Amino acid sequence: MSFIVIKTQGQLELMKAAGRLTANVLELIRENVREGISSRELDALAYEFITKNGAVPSFLNYHGYPASICASVNDTVIHGIPDDYRLKSGDIISVDVGVFIGGYHGDAARTFTVGDVADDVKKLISVTEECFMKGFFAAQKGGFISDISKAVQQHAEAHGYGVVREYIGHGVGKAMHEAPEVPNYYAEGMQRIRLREGMTIAIEPMINLGSHLVRTLKDGWTVKTIDGKPSAHYENTIAITANGPEILTKA
Ligand code: MF3
Ligand code: CO
Repeated sequence: MSFIVIKTQGQLELMKAAGRLTANVLELIRENVREGISSRELDALAYEFITKNGAVPSFLNYHGYPASICASVNDTVIHGIPDDYRLKSGDIISVDVGVFIGGYHGDAARTFTVGDVADDVKKLISVTEECFMKGFFAAQKGGFISDISKAVQQHAEAHGYGVVREYIGHGVGKAMHEAPEVPNYYAEGMQRIRLREGMTIAIEPMINLGSHLVRTLKDGWTVKTIDGKPSAHYENTIAITANGPEILTKA
């Protein structure tokens, strides 16, 4: 979809309901991430929870994607396919989930730690969340999408981290991916898209401990850092309102 869909108050309420369920899935995952569990088991928990709540997992069968969550461990940036690998102490796992209910999608992601994680990696996770918050507060009506991009990038790069370029945030609504694109970096000559009341977008910094460069595995999905260093992901679906930005994927 190339045009930006502005949502009415009633539509925002529906998106809030989808967002709440999305956030609740991530809370369920948070409670279950521990040493010894596999991402396939986490995916099964998510599927069961989503469907029991009368919703549809947005990712399942999306362009052939085979699961309800993306589970990206350590140097996997995004789109990790749930498998039988058992998490061990020191791992991190980024879980991304989408939920479709009442005609609208919610889309959110968090990075969780398993057991004892190195301090520099814990720092990466907390700064990635801060990058989201910087972008979030920059998402004011009358401003530009690039205000978000610049805020995210500036905070990540101030810590010496790499900002992933190949994948970006996006509009969210009746479709999981709507216009506009929401990059986490800024480059001269980018489209100037104004932020307006009723816009709903996913801001989703993907931040690497090392190089910003990534590669895709032969499975066509799994995206890893080029240097094997860890990566963190933090995403919420938000609305631009008259009173400032509002997080829709809130538990
Ligand atoms: N949730 C991802 C995003 O934030 C998309 C996941 S792709 C899928 O844009 F195939 F896994 F669904
Ligand atoms: Co998204």
